[in-house]
Amino acid sequence: MSATMADAKKRRAAEAALEHIPAGSVLGVGTGSTVRFFIEALAANPGQVRAAVSSSNATTTLLDAAGIPVLDLNDLADLPLYIDGADEATRAHHLIKGGGGALTREKIVAAAAARFICIIDESKLVGTLGAFPLPIEVIPMARRLLVRELEARGARPVWRQGFVTDNGNHILDVHGLAIADPPALEGELACLAGVVMVGLFARRPADLLLVGTDQGVITV
Ligand code: 5RP
Repeated sequence: MSATMADAKKRRAAEAALEHIPAGSVLGVGTGSTVRFFIEALAANPGQVRAAVSSSNATTTLLDAAGIPVLDLNDLADLPLYIDGADEATRAHHLIKGGGGALTREKIVAAAAARFICIIDESKLVGTLGAFPLPIEVIPMARRLLVRELEARGARPVWRQGFVTDNGNHILDVHGLAIADPPALEGELACLAGVVMVGLFARRPADLLLVGTDQGVITV
């Protein structure tokens, strides 16, 4: 699938999300190219959103440019809705996220939100997670230790060299994981010393998937 075709489907899913947002809402906003289309759609519909909680510095820049006030999550008593993309998703709403490296703040905002709507193009809807390498944010001094721990589990972690997260950490992209039980693996990996966040979103899955296709948007 060409980038342009994928972009058209991402844009379709992003625009469909607008229908799920009550006018004047405060919502969490994820990170990535699909979310960029979503922010463009918000900018074209002023008043739809009163303010937003951002999941990354990149998203904050886009929200600022769209004239949408960005709030600190700590200043809110609750957050009704979070909109974000994903790298892979299953029909059980389990996700791999972190291709853009923003997984830690994304998972925090998703955890805080009452409802999480995930917007993807159809190429990301899979039967089993794991073809996309699983991003894990790690404390820099623990990187080699975690490489050994993950290799001992039969996986192939690759350091995303030259990339530093918004939190000052490193990313390991973990290839070759058989993700038969996403919530169990998420819990197991999260316990390893030096892991900041695992890009599996299974314990707090999405509540709804909006999947952009050639024909339109499918709701899963
Ligand atoms: C960023 C993410 C993104 O949601 C994910 O990488 C999908 O990105 P895109 O919409 O550009 O395909 O998890 O950390």
